[in-house]
Amino acid sequence: MSEEYTLIFLKPSAIRRGLVGRILARFEDKGLEIVSLKTIFMSRDMAMDFYSVHRGKPFFDELINTVGDKKIVAAILKGRSAISVVRSLIGATDPVKAAPGTVRGDFGLDITDNLIHASDSKESFVREAAILFPDFKA
Ligand code: CMP
Repeated sequence: MSEEYTLIFLKPSAIRRGLVGRILARFEDKGLEIVSLKTIFMSRDMAMDFYSVHRGKPFFDELINTVGDKKIVAAILKGRSAISVVRSLIGATDPVKAAPGTVRGDFGLDITDNLIHASDSKESFVREAAILFPDFKA
């Protein structure tokens, strides 16, 4: 597969715990390019829009409380098969099940506060980038 873009954001706990540099280094070590990087204040409204597909699920309120009204670090990464490569580097959604060597497998335990989000498809990337990087042009 050819070069593609993906979006990640580091959740507030990753910033609080001083893990930003170590986590971003993993993507650079793999050979992905950081095309855009910024700290954003994620309002509750922005968080609810970003996670609108999860509205109504039992963990939705906890998810919004975890990321809403807090600072996040968001990035757009580029590379060959970037979407699937980044999903494997971050590991399973539940850090208890995430393999050692992945971001969630190495740094987390909590399923909602699981340190990092990454786009799961090209369609998700386009939707998520429009929210966090409205000026982004491929
Ligand atoms: P993320 O990759 O950001 O995408 C959706 C988020 O919802 C997920 O990471 C977790 O933070 C949260 N989440 C998903 N499933 C559950 C669950 N079963 N219980 C609690 N939180 C969840």
